[in-house]
Amino acid sequence: MASIKQSVILGLATFTIFSSAASIPDTNPTEFGPSKAAAQHNAFGIFNAVHSAMRQWGSSLNHNGMSLFVVTIPPGVLLHHGSPNSTPPQGPEWLAFEIEHAELARVGGEGRVVDWQGVVDLIVARYADRLKYMADGVESLAWMQGELNGLLNTHIDYSEEDEGYQAALGRCTRYYTRVAVPNTQEDHLILAAIETVTHNICSTLLTVRKLVVENTHADEDSIIAAKEALRVLMGKLEWTTWKQCAGCNFDEVCFIPVWPFGDKASYEEPNCRNATTLDKGWWDPASRYWHPMPNLMPPPDESE
Ligand SMILES: *[C@@H]1O[C@H](CO)[C@@H](O)[C@H](O)[C@H]1NC(C)=O
Repeated sequence: MASIKQSVILGLATFTIFSSAASIPDTNPTEFGPSKAAAQHNAFGIFNAVHSAMRQWGSSLNHNGMSLFVVTIPPGVLLHHGSPNSTPPQGPEWLAFEIEHAELARVGGEGRVVDWQGVVDLIVARYADRLKYMADGVESLAWMQGELNGLLNTHIDYSEEDEGYQAALGRCTRYYTRVAVPNTQEDHLILAAIETVTHNICSTLLTVRKLVVENTHADEDSIIAAKEALRVLMGKLEWTTWKQCAGCNFDEVCFIPVWPFGDKASYEEPNCRNATTLDKGWWDPASRYWHPMPNLMPPPDESE
């Protein structure tokens, strides 16, 4: 670990929505340049890019993830740097992604992306497990109804007339963003992307609710149709949290390839590994993930 007095981190980002122009043109998503339509068109990718920004996990799954953003780190922030010796780097060097969130939140300047990350985190925390459970785990109508009511009742006002639940849909869509005060063009575009995603989530949930809660003849087929709709939604969301290992032992890590180490199978399906199994598949050219393999570390001598 090295404490860097003042330095600038350049991260990478897939989305090309950032620019400094002041107005937000509402142009066709197939045209180049920032626009609300483009932000909505690329909403799922933008949402995930904000979620994964400066974090190892999501960036390991989508590693061309981020375009450049400039971040000023205040004095005293601890950054992580691995090397074969114990001397701290004297100049610019690579630094590990995983800085504690509290420290990131203090990052000024262009680092405001982390405020949006807080919003995105709340949305993922609210829905990731619930969606997965409904799509894969739920077996009875009563459980499915319970899940849907738990997610949607906050947004439904049963005392008002709400044709097609349009008002509920609006409240659900903007629940996590209604207090957001977008200033810059980037803010407006990220907001448009986030609300496109939450609109998709909320409208799917209301559709599923129609199938299994409103429908007085709901049966086994309704559960199947509900799960299918939820799986389609999950396919669009592609949240990286769904690739996390379920419950590794205390002596294990959930391993995903991080340059220069790793194997292809762990990229497809990150898995729990202990100190003994950690480097399984890293060295064989047929199974390793990174090509070419840099000459940083020799493979272990199996003959010993
Ligand atoms: C590591 O995991 C493997 C496979 O799960 C197991 O066979 C082995 O005993 C474990 N090693 C240690 C040191 O716990």
